[in-house]
Amino acid sequence: DNAALLNAIIENAIDGIITISQRGVVESINPSACKLFGYVPDEVIGHNISMLMPQPDKARHDTYIERYQHTGHAHIIGIGREVTGLRKDGSVFPFRLAVSEVAVSGRKIYTGFIHDLSRAKEAEDRLKEHA
Ligand code: HEM
Repeated sequence: DNAALLNAIIENAIDGIITISQRGVVESINPSACKLFGYVPDEVIGHNISMLMPQPDKARHDTYIERYQHTGHAHIIGIGREVTGLRKDGSVFPFRLAVSEVAVSGRKIYTGFIHDLSRAKEAEDRLKEHA
């Protein structure tokens, strides 16, 4: 059925996919995102999305979401941005973040798509070294 198909797509996606509540609490995380950040789902689900980012965004992310909810002005939703992720081992990596707002069963959630840029960035840095 449709739900099984959607689930299979999300489970096998190359990019990371994370959904959060309006309060920024992680509700789902796919295997790609788990691998990128170095966690198993249980370590992330139920926690604030800010656990996956370094400062200063970590301390500010709740405010980013609240600002959007009060003003309706998107800075990332529908635009995308290159941001820095924080892995469980404390290392950081660059990725392209796309966020969309979705209404499911009468409530709003946010879906984040995470496209790893570490390899692209490494190649870029090597080119710069040799320039
Ligand atoms: C806003 C960073 C992950 C949902 C923002 C902003 C930044 C940011 C910098 C606000 C920009 C501004 O106000 O100028 C990050 C970082 C992440 C991350 C570093 C690394 C893990 C996520 C994920 C989601 C998400 C995975 C959704 C599942 C949102 C929402 C907003 C927001 C809903 C407010 C709407 C908007 O400004 O368009 N984030 N974010 N974020 N982020 Fe994140």
